[in-house]
Amino acid sequence: MERIALRGILQIFLVTPVMFFAMSGLAGCERLPPASNAQKDTPAIALGRELFFDQSLSADGTVSCANCHVASKSFTDGLSVSIGVNERPGTRNAPDLSDATVYSTLFWDGRESELNVVALQAFTNPREMGLTDVDALLKQVNAQPRYARFARSNPLDQSDIAEGLTQYLRSLPRQPTRYDRSVEKPSLLTADERAGLALFTGKAACAECHVLAGNPAALTDQKFHYAGVGFEQIAGDVTVLLGRLEHATRTGQPLGELVLSEREIAELGRFSVTRRPPDLGAFRTPSLRNVARTAPYMHDGSVATLDKAVEREIYYRSLGRGRAVNLTVTEQRQLTAFLLALSTEN
Ligand code: HEC
Ligand code: HEC
Repeated sequence: MERIALRGILQIFLVTPVMFFAMSGLAGCERLPPASNAQKDTPAIALGRELFFDQSLSADGTVSCANCHVASKSFTDGLSVSIGVNERPGTRNAPDLSDATVYSTLFWDGRESELNVVALQAFTNPREMGLTDVDALLKQVNAQPRYARFARSNPLDQSDIAEGLTQYLRSLPRQPTRYDRSVEKPSLLTADERAGLALFTGKAACAECHVLAGNPAALTDQKFHYAGVGFEQIAGDVTVLLGRLEHATRTGQPLGELVLSEREIAELGRFSVTRRPPDLGAFRTPSLRNVARTAPYMHDGSVATLDKAVEREIYYRSLGRGRAVNLTVTEQRQLTAFLLALSTEN
């Protein structure tokens, strides 16, 4: 608990993040993106795509996976925290699903690790699609003639649905970014972007966590780190929250339902999974791939712009290391310029 007190003191110096509950601009009914690899689609991928865009598979008939994972926003939704059925907000910022195959654990707190398990959870989470149970999902799917053509077995079962969505997520394109291509051909980066890369791997030490290894670069170390984002909201109540977690475990409430409906529990981060004090308020290092398209930022979407996110990271990460990193305004601009080269061009 000493650590918590210390954090409390640290928080005095930390800026209180502003929550941007952008209640408007919900993606609504995005149209299916052109099926560019339609020829290569297996029946499972085609089924997954159909399910991904189907709003009828939600309690109020208005929410599909694609509401919160919008293709043109690199499979995020542009909101600070996602909004599910009956306009009810969750607690977390929607992650880019084209990275889902890169992570060794899933969700901001890494509470799951298998895509085919995660693929089904949104259907029954009250803050997402809100169906009562998997049976309700199967009933709704099998009542629709358009799914009949996918039936290996008849009717479609839970594993067909999980497999279809998993295959669809795996099929999302992961083209190399301009940075990835510049590894072979450095002239693809401008002078400012190259200076930003040198800072990213050097003085600013961003690559310690947003690692550049791999091609395409993973930009995550797959680990969990504390940065004070949102944590000051709960610093006093950890014991009470631990009790709530234990109660949920005893009563069989899925962790994902608790996390997305209770903001204070959500701020515990990795701790809610491991119950280890060093994991309090720690979150998975997000890949920075396509970061230009995934605003707002951080697990709670509390940082509105990329400039602000970079500014925050420079400050807090050096605080975490106990050694201040001072970047000039120009260097900070170069660092951001480099992050913008981490996007695919389509
Ligand atoms: C109401 C908005 C919403 C809907 C609907 C939704 N998601 Fe998500 N999704 C999220 C949020 C928010 C998270 C992050 C939750 C967390 O970290 O606790 C997430 C996380 C995920 C992840 C983990 C990604 C990662 O990087 O760890 C996968 C996979 C996923 N969703 C797939 C789906 C699928 C498939 C559907 C439809 C069946 C779906 N989602 C429906 C908002 C939504
Ligand atoms: C100690 C590991 C670590 C270091 C070093 C680090 N980051 Fe991060 N970064 C994280 C984690 C963890 C998050 C998510 C924090 C959260 O949401 O609470 C994050 C979030 C971000 C985000 C928001 C991404 C999104 O999708 O929401 C950006 C942008 C970012 N970091 C840039 C940087 C830059 C630039 C540097 C170097 C100055 C840096 N980071 C250094 C671990 C790190």
